[in-house]
Amino acid sequence: MQALRCRRDSADAGLYALTTMLTIMPTASAARIEPSDAHDLIVFGATGAVGRAVLARLIAAGRRPLCPGRTGRDRLPTGSDWQAFDLYAEQPLELPAASEIVSAGPLDGLAHWLRRCPPQRPVRIAALSSTSAQTKLASNDPSERRLAQRLLDAEQMVIAQARRSGGSATLLRATLIYGNGPDRNLSHWTRLAQKLGRVPMPVWARGRRQPVHADDLAAALLTSLDRTAVAHRILTLPGGETLDYRSMVARHLAVSVPGAGLLDLVRPLAAAAVATLALGPAHWRARAAQLRRTGQDLCFDDGDWRLLDLAPRPFRPEPPDPDSTR
Ligand SMILES: NC(=O)c1ccc[n+]([C@@H]2O[C@H](COP(=O)([O-])OP(=O)(O)OC[C@H]3O[C@@H](n4cnc5c(N)ncnc54)[C@H](OP(=O)(O)O)[C@@H]3O)[C@@H](O)[C@H]2O)c1
Repeated sequence: MQALRCRRDSADAGLYALTTMLTIMPTASAARIEPSDAHDLIVFGATGAVGRAVLARLIAAGRRPLCPGRTGRDRLPTGSDWQAFDLYAEQPLELPAASEIVSAGPLDGLAHWLRRCPPQRPVRIAALSSTSAQTKLASNDPSERRLAQRLLDAEQMVIAQARRSGGSATLLRATLIYGNGPDRNLSHWTRLAQKLGRVPMPVWARGRRQPVHADDLAAALLTSLDRTAVAHRILTLPGGETLDYRSMVARHLAVSVPGAGLLDLVRPLAAAAVATLALGPAHWRARAAQLRRTGQDLCFDDGDWRLLDLAPRPFRPEPPDPDSTR
């Protein structure tokens, strides 16, 4: 097996081999990985909303990807292989030297891993990034500004490492992702509606959004792998419909918690709530920044979809799948 060689001290090699063997566990549905298995295609983030859609498409096309992740052993479908793996590990495990990598997980994790384990053969990478790289660069919240900078740095690192290998990368900046099971955005409003019956929403929450479906991004990632025209490029891929924030949440709640509506929070009350959150711990501050941003338009030109001969669907939220796990 030609392996991606990670930078590490030779004294650690034995410990590494042992750790690798101990962490390569059998899976209930995905197959067990043997160190000698050859995999030409790696999918990072296979258990996320976009990753699950990528996997479904690959398996339907007869491919058998390797899906490294911290979890997922019992959740990945038949036709894929799982390996215990942490992108941020200081000394990441070796993976087979794949010629193709799809990343639907954290981009800065991918950049960290590529820096630690530079590809030893030309690799074609298609990776999800985020429009937050642009929109959060001027946020009031310093942690959001740092996130934006991390994304920008990671994008450049991924492109540089792929180029260095003799291959190439394409980065796909997504807007707010929804669909294909629980997500990190709209599911928050579902939980709040289930608890409170109605969702308090600042009256200013009229900023325009373009939510993008996870499966449309999966199609874009896989199409990018085959398109030399988009090599070394960063594309921006918004969803196929523009609507204001409160309409987006209301439409989502109509299918996820029927009967739960929005409760208008008048400006002074909403401003006081945001100011209080801004004084709290990091996750409160992030929520405060998010609530402030609901008044801003976060819209992008959709022309990059045409480079892939794809078109994103309009915003059609799906009812929750009672069997879905994350
Ligand atoms: N959510 C959005 O609305 C949104 C919008 C625009 C762009 N994006 C971009 O889309 C990508 C995915 O975002 P996400 O919100 O779906 O969730 P995420 O938490 O960034 O990624 C989820 C997936 O990544 C894997 N993962 C997370 N940490 C890992 C680690 N340390 N090592 C290995 N695998 C790891 C998870 O598997 P395990 O937990 O099993 O390890 C899971 O499969 C990110 O690059 C994000 O910037 C997201």
